[in-house]
Amino acid sequence: MKIDFLGVRFANPIVLASGILGVTAASLKRCIDLGAGGVTIKSLSLKSRTGHRNPTMGGYDHFFLNAVGLSNPGIEAGIKEIKKFKKICHAPLIGSVFAGNVAEFGIVTKRICSAPIDILEIDISCPNVGEEFDTPFAYSVEAAVAITKVVKKYAKRVPVSMKLSPNAWNIGAIAAACEQAGADAITAINTASGMTIDSAFQAPFLSNTVGGVSGPALKPIALKAVWDVYNSVKRIPIIATGGVTSGEDAAEMMLAGGTLVGVGSAVFWRGPDVFGKIVAELKQYMKQHNMRNVKSIIGKAHKSRSA
Ligand SMILES: Cc1cc2nc3c(=O)[nH]c(=O)nc-3n(C[C@H](O)[C@H](O)[C@H](O)COP(=O)(O)O)c2cc1C
Repeated sequence: MKIDFLGVRFANPIVLASGILGVTAASLKRCIDLGAGGVTIKSLSLKSRTGHRNPTMGGYDHFFLNAVGLSNPGIEAGIKEIKKFKKICHAPLIGSVFAGNVAEFGIVTKRICSAPIDILEIDISCPNVGEEFDTPFAYSVEAAVAITKVVKKYAKRVPVSMKLSPNAWNIGAIAAACEQAGADAITAINTASGMTIDSAFQAPFLSNTVGGVSGPALKPIALKAVWDVYNSVKRIPIIATGGVTSGEDAAEMMLAGGTLVGVGSAVFWRGPDVFGKIVAELKQYMKQHNMRNVKSIIGKAHKSRSA
């Protein structure tokens, strides 16, 4: 199940997605102990943020809705947790940052790259902070390119993955533009913009009204996004994320073109040991299909289609 991604060796392709199970070294290590091949830290900003008022999260039968509002302890506190994690665990850690403008992306990137992260993910696609930050940068080619260029300048040795949004109609073109601007990988996708209405209270459920949809309902959207990105980029790999709750889901994401597979909301339905469960199921899938190397799954659905 071992897999190399941007020169970093993962014990298996299943990684914790950003924003789930906290930012502490202990909770990140727990995911590794429970079977994840790597972990992504909650996105960090220059200053700490409390996020939106409650209610910020709701779990439903087929999806999860959140508008946490990018609450995080700030980059300096986050760096302390990253250092602690690296002392107690040798597994790969993907850093994650976000900012409100191009210059600030440069500053947070420079800071986090002073910490022992293996890869850096750039969150330009959070759908629930629109009132504060306006439209996500991931909705436009120009904005995504501008951020990619500045983070690449400051990331130096650390490979960078740009995290894109399913709400951009042209995600393939945006991914290709990020690649041209120097991105080393694409993470597809963040949550999709959505909302629920509380029929009893006759009002939006979230305090922020709108939030991000994740979990099983997001999977077909994520698969299409990964498919488009795989078709559009020339050489860079994909961290395929969105709605994966089983080994079969993970296989589908790899068949569509993912090299690593991000798992977040599945923890809500299957518990924190979901990582090990998915890895075991993915192994079973490979056995059933006579596949010995996990790499052979990547992009296979594209080849089968044209055969
Ligand atoms: C509660 C919650 C918080 C999240 N916070 C972040 C975040 O800080 N940064 C980020 O890039 N993505 C964040 N995400 C998005 C996830 O990393 C992931 O892209 C999305 O949930 C789809 O994957 P899933 O269906 O496996 O959850 C968050 C998702 C949830 C549910």
